[in-house]
Amino acid sequence: MSSVIPTLPGRYYTDPDIFAAEQRGIFEAMWFCAVRSSDVGVPGAFRTVQVGNESILITRSRGGVRAFYNVCRHRGATLCADEYGEVKRAFSCAYHAWSYDLEGKLIAAPNMSAMPDLDRVEYGLAKVHVREWLGYVWVCLADEPPSFDDTVLGAVTERLGALELIDNYSPDALELGRRIVYDVKANWKLIVENFMECYHCATIHPELVEVLPEFADGYAAQYYVGHGALFGENIEGFTVDGSPGLDRIPSLAEDQDRRYFAITIKPQVFINLVPDHIILHRMYPLAADRTIVECDWLYTADVVTGGKNLDKSVELFHRVNEQDFEACERCQPRMSSRLYAKGGVLVPSEHHIGAFHDWVIEKLGL
Ligand code: FES
Ligand code: FE
Repeated sequence: MSSVIPTLPGRYYTDPDIFAAEQRGIFEAMWFCAVRSSDVGVPGAFRTVQVGNESILITRSRGGVRAFYNVCRHRGATLCADEYGEVKRAFSCAYHAWSYDLEGKLIAAPNMSAMPDLDRVEYGLAKVHVREWLGYVWVCLADEPPSFDDTVLGAVTERLGALELIDNYSPDALELGRRIVYDVKANWKLIVENFMECYHCATIHPELVEVLPEFADGYAAQYYVGHGALFGENIEGFTVDGSPGLDRIPSLAEDQDRRYFAITIKPQVFINLVPDHIILHRMYPLAADRTIVECDWLYTADVVTGGKNLDKSVELFHRVNEQDFEACERCQPRMSSRLYAKGGVLVPSEHHIGAFHDWVIEKLGL
C-alpha cells in the first residue's frame, strides 16, 4: 500500500448540499448524544438541541425522559424557543396557545369544543426514540433506529475490548463538574479527524505531551492506544502542570490507573477516560462550516459536592480543546481553495482516518 492516501476533496467540508445529505444520512439516522440526563433532571425541565436539520425538545415526565420534535402540530411554530427551561405541566405554543402535556398529548387549544374531531393524540407532539446511557440522553430520529448495542456500545467494545472497562469508571454515578461550550468555525469532520490522530500532538499540545509522553511520537496514539496511554514518570495527575489530580474513581481497576483512554463514538461523541474523571465531548453540527462542541468534565459526587478545586484538572483539556479547534479553524477556510479541490494526503499514522472517510461516503450513498 502507498504510504500516502488521499483525503476527502475540499468540497466535503464546504458544500451545503453535502452537509444536508449528512444531516439526513448521518445525524438524523443514527443515535445522537443529545443532552446530559441531569440537564432535564426533574419533570418539566427541558432542553432543546439541534439534531441534523431538526430542533428536538427533550424533557422529563413522571414516566421518564421524553423527546419530541420541537414543532407545534398546528401551524408548525417552534414550540420552545429557549434552549433551557422548566414548565410546570405543559408546553404552550406562543402563536395560538395550543398546549401539550409532558407526554406530548394535546391537552388544550382555544375553542377546542368547536373541534370535536381534533384527535389529541394524533395531533400531539411527534415522538423521537430515546435511550439513556452514561448519564446522557441519546435520541434517534429514524423510524427504525439502528441497534444501540451494535453501534454505540459496539464502538466502546471495539476500542476498549470490553464494556466493563468503561463501567469501571462508574459513569452513571459521576456528576457534572464543569461544562465549556465551544463555537467552532469548522466542519464537524475536521474535528473528528483531528480527534482521531496524534500526528499533531507534539506540534500543538505541549501540556498534553508532557503528561502523556508517548503522544510525542505522533503515532496516532489516541487511536491506537487501546491499552491506554501511560502518564509520564514524574506526572502525578491528569492536570495542566502534572500536579496531583482529584480522588481516583474508587471502582477503577488497578491497571487502568495512570492511563488515558480515548473513544470516538460516531458520529458526534468523544470520550476521554482518566483515573479521576471523564471528559465527554458532544458535537452539534450547525452548518458546513460551524459546529458547536459541548464538553463536560465529570467527577465523583464527592469531588463535585465537596467543592474541590477543579481548575488545574479542567485546564489541561480546555487547552487541548482550544489548540485543536484553532487548528480546525485554520483548515476550514482553505477547504475551498482550488489547491484543495482534490484534497490532501494522509500519512501512515493517519491511515485510519481514511476508514472514517469511507464510512462517511458509504453513509451518504455516494
Ligand atoms: Fe402553535 Fe398555532 S402554531 S398554536
Ligand atoms: Fe489534538
